[in-house]
Amino acid sequence: MAWRKYCWSKRSASGDESLSVRGLLGIQDLPRTEIEAILERAKFFQTPQQRGTALTGRMIVNLFFEASTRTRVSFEIAARRLGADAISITASGSSVSKGESLVDTLATLAAMRPDAIVMRHAASGAPHFLARHLDIPIINAGDGTHEHPTQALLDARTILDHRPTLEGLRVAIIGDLAHSRVARSNIHLLSKFGASIVLCGPPTLLPKEMAQLAPGVTLTHDIREAIAGADVVMMLRVQLERQHEAPIAHSEYFGFFGLRAEHIPLAKNDVLVMHPGPINRGHEIASEVADSKQSVILNQVENGIAVRMAVLERVTVLERGTVGGAA
Ligand code: NCD
Repeated sequence: MAWRKYCWSKRSASGDESLSVRGLLGIQDLPRTEIEAILERAKFFQTPQQRGTALTGRMIVNLFFEASTRTRVSFEIAARRLGADAISITASGSSVSKGESLVDTLATLAAMRPDAIVMRHAASGAPHFLARHLDIPIINAGDGTHEHPTQALLDARTILDHRPTLEGLRVAIIGDLAHSRVARSNIHLLSKFGASIVLCGPPTLLPKEMAQLAPGVTLTHDIREAIAGADVVMMLRVQLERQHEAPIAHSEYFGFFGLRAEHIPLAKNDVLVMHPGPINRGHEIASEVADSKQSVILNQVENGIAVRMAVLERVTVLERGTVGGAA
């Protein structure tokens, strides 16, 4: 099989796969020092006119098997700002829709020698599987209900634009925790930096086991308790496309778990209201809160480009050992 030519056997000594050889698969095994380096570099890329040449002449393939606006577009912009050619392929426009297997699609793309593949897939673990077979850095842009590492990194960048440190912050993550890869990546990241994390949602969307995901995590079903004294409130979309249970009626959900203006005074005065998007106004968050001065939702989108520039640079240039300094 042709794809075997591109198999790799390199693995880091510790065996962790996150940014082990190359690529970025998740936050769980990513060392704190790596996270700090990416966040620092992202700060450098925050000025919109900031460009780089690190990826000049390189090709980044964005392979999206699930819908995406923010993530796909910001990876494209990030690649172009670093001088790369960026090509986006969606499942419906690829041979996957003609029955080709995932490995064969990826092997075909790998044969075209891209410098990195950014991948979103509905199956948890899909990018990890490919990273074991292909000698090309794979960046996980969201795998099923598992991880969404660049979202957690851009969320951390956004918080750090307003707070000196993540240590000791009280972060409430509210909504459909069970199906949220954004929550899982954020929990791992925030816990590594000593934040205390309160997860809040209806019992059907908040499995008890989530308390064991990382140190510093507690659970509640009471939104007021979750928000009390919070530095950051992260809202999550109810991910109906992943739910197999009977959905909770919109009005009932909003009544119990929707973030409304009356909740804001319970939090710290300078609370940050976050949401990875897409937002459903009037379902998990009231319009007036999404558009309030506490909301940093659009800052998150903006930081997505800077963080993805830092990640693309790091995973493609890492082996040459030249990351850092003016690009
Ligand atoms: C999230 C995702 O796809 O996991 N969105 C995003 O990447 N900005 C969250 C969601 O879809 O609700």
